Amino acid sequence: MTPSTDRSTAGLIRAALSLGDYHRIMNDLYEEVFGEHQMVHFPYYRRADETLLEGQANLTNVCLDYLGDLSGSDVLEVGCGNGVQSMFVASTRGPRSVTGLDLNPANVALADRIATRKSLFNTAFLASDAQDMKELADESFDAVLNVESAFHYPDKPAFLREVARVLKPGGRFVMADILMKPNRRGRLLRMWERRLSQNYWFPDSYRNAFARTALRIEHEADITAAVVKGFKNRGGWFRDHPIQGPVRRTLIMTFMRAQVARHLYYLKNVCTYHVFSAVKTTETR
Ligand SMILES: C[S@@+](CC[C@H](N)C(=O)[O-])C[C@H]1O[C@@H](n2cnc3c(N)ncnc32)[C@H](O)[C@@H]1O
Repeated sequence: MTPSTDRSTAGLIRAALSLGDYHRIMNDLYEEVFGEHQMVHFPYYRRADETLLEGQANLTNVCLDYLGDLSGSDVLEVGCGNGVQSMFVASTRGPRSVTGLDLNPANVALADRIATRKSLFNTAFLASDAQDMKELADESFDAVLNVESAFHYPDKPAFLREVARVLKPGGRFVMADILMKPNRRGRLLRMWERRLSQNYWFPDSYRNAFARTALRIEHEADITAAVVKGFKNRGGWFRDHPIQGPVRRTLIMTFMRAQVARHLYYLKNVCTYHVFSAVKTTETR
């Protein structure tokens, strides 16, 4: 499938119905609108009039601050998507290396291309499953980052066990995830979530699963309000960016508005947005 087909109306409709298409289309659209690939996650509000990219960087920084000083460290990002966030870590936090891992080989190939273009030599990307990261050695990372990806994993205990396995003792883990709150959404929405591999968990399920690993939770924050507020800045996000032709512009704006409406509906009625940070202990449980 060529990029131009991907960016068609049919491509946008497919994006609403399959996870692989969704990420490919979001990658393509962000590149088209902003001139280069961007992180694919929600914005975190700090100031009125923030751009989407500033809001997204805020969320990354909120997470990274829980990991402490990363200079000279080996960092793993699980669910790295197009790798832009891993490259942000590599270029802003002075790590020795950043490894990005994603289930989708197309994302990994894209990450490799972007890193080569940016001449970033301390990043590496691999296609693997967060629930079984068999390519990675035990105790090989100082820090693990996971942003807006875990809600896709059906087996979260396996994911947490894998994080505990690859972290060095005393290593840190931070995860930003979309969690489920008690709600009464209909069967159609639940079917559609299954198509997009959305396997939301409850906060207590996470707390219990962490307790069965060597990962001791240090902080837990419900940041839903800051994320919802982050979307309030959306009025100016695309205004100054050239999109070829009025029809194309209307199509993209309609798609983006629909995405934002869906995210806000979920964040207000179905989900909460949490950050968990943990340290790997040497105590046996
Ligand atoms: C919303 S994107 C987030 C990308 C990146 N973390 C960021 O913040 O820009 C979620 C990513 O999780 C990946 N993913 C879904 N299930 C996965 C799994 N089982 N193992 C690894 N990655 C997975 C998807 O392929 C997608 O690239």
